[in-house]
Amino acid sequence: MIPAIQIEQVHKHYGSLQALRGVDLTIEQGEFFALLGPNGAGKSTLINLLAGLLRPTSGRLSVMGFDVQAQYRDARRALGVVPQELVFDPFFNVREMLRFQAGYFGRGPENDTWVDEIIECLGLGDKAHTNMRRLSGGMKRRALIAQALAHKPPVIVLDEPTAGVDVELRQMMWEFIKRLNREGHTIILTTHYLEEAETLCSRVAMMKQGRIIALDSTRNLLKQIPGKNLRLKLDAPLPESLRSMLRHEEDTEYMLVLTEVTQIEQVLAILRQAGIVVEDMQLIEADLEDVFVDLVGQP
Ligand SMILES: Nc1ncnc2c1ncn2[C@@H]1O[C@H](COP(=O)(O)OP(=O)(O)OP(=O)(O)O)[C@@H](O)[C@H]1O
Ligand SMILES: [Mg+2]
Repeated sequence: MIPAIQIEQVHKHYGSLQALRGVDLTIEQGEFFALLGPNGAGKSTLINLLAGLLRPTSGRLSVMGFDVQAQYRDARRALGVVPQELVFDPFFNVREMLRFQAGYFGRGPENDTWVDEIIECLGLGDKAHTNMRRLSGGMKRRALIAQALAHKPPVIVLDEPTAGVDVELRQMMWEFIKRLNREGHTIILTTHYLEEAETLCSRVAMMKQGRIIALDSTRNLLKQIPGKNLRLKLDAPLPESLRSMLRHEEDTEYMLVLTEVTQIEQVLAILRQAGIVVEDMQLIEADLEDVFVDLVGQP
């Protein structure tokens, strides 16, 4: 089977800034894939290269087997992109905009039932005849998601689709996107909500400073974090002898890594001896955020 996305040795420089430094990545058809990384890691640059909005300094990218540069129209038709920035044409209402977008990619009136379905599934029914510029921020975000889906592309890329989106739409949107994935669409997602990536995505790439520094199934990434986390709220700073276990800290809240649950006894004994009061305590499983913090730094 042709991969949904193939990226080979891609470099992208903006003047002297090296935004991408040799990215290789293959995403198979039907995957639900997360592209994670801190601000400025190069995620949107990579997505804009896939969409043909930017040209790579060197390297190759293809979508569903179509070279993004040599076969631009076919590659672009295979892709639906929800951009990070809110950009839209202010002259149309929602339904017109969607039909127009589908038409641009060669879909005719037979696609109208699909357009109506998207409007319904994203809760845009009341706004179908509202002009784009009169929508609230969250509604514009919905319309942008709808726009990416209008021509029913096999590969869907969502660049932080849930930034500034309320809980209800988040759930509605993910239900719809999960359905599209079950029906065979490939989904690629960037998000700073790591629990979203953890529950939705079967494979994850983590980027840092223009490179992919981890690429594995979500399950394997979680497995590489040993033990559990102990969250402590103390009435005084953490004793020096416990700092080797520290994963991160915020004010007087500390997250310690335990390789064995039995270490709790030790920790409590040390705190008691130091006369420190434990105001709150919680034992939690390591999650994708821990992997991220270990590999990339602060979330
Ligand atoms: N048009 C541009 N001109 C110059 N530099 C740019 C341009 N677009 C992005 N950059 C720089 O390239 C680097 C990567 O940016 P990019 O937008 O790809 O990061 P990102 O991973 O999407 O970050 P975020 O999580 O904040 O969206 C950053 O240092 C950014 O400042
Ligand atoms: Mg970005």
